[in-house]
Amino acid sequence: HWMNDPNGMVYYKGSYHLFYQYYPGSTVWGPMHWGHATSKDLIHWDHQPIALYPDSLGYIFSGSVVVDYNNTSGFAKNGIVPLVAIFTHHDPVADKEGKNTYQNQSIAYSLDEGQTWTKYAMNPVLHNPGVRDFRDPKVSWHAATKRWIMTLATSDCITFYSSPDLKNWTKESEFGKEIGAHGGVWECPDLFSIDYQGKKLWVLIVNLNPGGPNGGSATQYFIGNFNGRRFSAFDSETRWVDYGPDEYAGVTYTNTDKRRIFQGWMSNWQYATRVPTENWRSAATIPRELSIRRIAGKYFLSSKPVKELNRFTYADMKMKGVIASNLDLGTKSAKLRGPVKLKLNFEKVSDFTITLSNTINQKLVIGFSQSKNGFFIDRTQSGKSDFEQGFARTHNAPRFVRSDNMDITLIIDDASVELFADNGLTVMTSIFFPHENYSSVRIDSPDSIMIDELTFSKLRSILSENEMKLSKN
Ligand code: FRU
Repeated sequence: HWMNDPNGMVYYKGSYHLFYQYYPGSTVWGPMHWGHATSKDLIHWDHQPIALYPDSLGYIFSGSVVVDYNNTSGFAKNGIVPLVAIFTHHDPVADKEGKNTYQNQSIAYSLDEGQTWTKYAMNPVLHNPGVRDFRDPKVSWHAATKRWIMTLATSDCITFYSSPDLKNWTKESEFGKEIGAHGGVWECPDLFSIDYQGKKLWVLIVNLNPGGPNGGSATQYFIGNFNGRRFSAFDSETRWVDYGPDEYAGVTYTNTDKRRIFQGWMSNWQYATRVPTENWRSAATIPRELSIRRIAGKYFLSSKPVKELNRFTYADMKMKGVIASNLDLGTKSAKLRGPVKLKLNFEKVSDFTITLSNTINQKLVIGFSQSKNGFFIDRTQSGKSDFEQGFARTHNAPRFVRSDNMDITLIIDDASVELFADNGLTVMTSIFFPHENYSSVRIDSPDSIMIDELTFSKLRSILSENEMKLSKN
């Protein structure tokens, strides 16, 4: 059925928990629940019972989960540490009536590792002061001031709140009215620190819909300082976690120690409810590990598929020193069946394309243009596109480094590609719907450039043997 944003992502007692905006009643958006899945390795996921159902206060919109180790909330019982979910209650009736106060923040707790949840009797805990679009709380423990910090999307800016107990919240500050992209409403924020060469830098993620670099919804970020009350950005440039059209609402997992693992929804509000899938709508991106890099005096995020994915590659085909001219990987070995990972290293950068195609001439072209100094994904002839006028487009993304060598990693599945270039500095996610699966990969370059190393690997299916049998029937 229908899913959108990832919610409440948390690592606890050996399991990653991924909650998500879910409507079990249809393949289009509706009364929102929190669906739930768990994983030991970020790759294989098991479905769990629905975590949160809509109630008299409204639908359950996006939010986060924290591990309340110190029992600040008082929800612990018999020494069991509570998981506390902080989410938006969206009242559809008040919304229809045109009231500004239809979104409020509420909490729920679990004492059985996320299996069952009890909503707090005194919800909501943070009342709307009269701001339309007042939602998507991301809460984290601020060790230096020993309080919880809530990062909340409030229309065209972020508002920070603090709390000693997750129940009483005090407004601290606002950020962003005059900075960043403002083509649409600010949603689904995240705030966390990353160590960079011994320094603690703060990253503020702000999702935006519409107004993305290639149209529709997208994820921007700021790097700067957070002192427990205020966030300030080092500069006023707009940066994007992912330049492709199909990563949205991405935020990071909580309680993962030094690791910062980001995951997004693999769609775009511009057409999400109309994409031509039948029993399901939307998926999540590959989990990505974030780090900070400094390029020409400026800080950037880089994202790479989590290293756990490497355990599931097989049938690696490695080539060294090949010329990128009419290089047909489809006929050389494994056909493009099921998910694959393709990694290319170039010593000297030049124009090139990687074309995925099927036997009826539908294709997706991924490439680099030296004159534009940028990457692109062209889905103009990728297959079905009549569900949305703006779908069949070429999307572009800048290159940030000037070095001669370049690396590209592609994660290609039946209906999606995720591109990671220059060690994750430029990322693009794009979905597509060919009438017949793509079955070949070809690499071309007008300059016949040399690929120093090429690795083409298959990725093991994440379906269990049982599910495989079912899907064959
Ligand atoms: C983002 C979003 C959130 C909201 C949720 C509703 O995609 O609009 O702001 O909480 O989806 O499903």
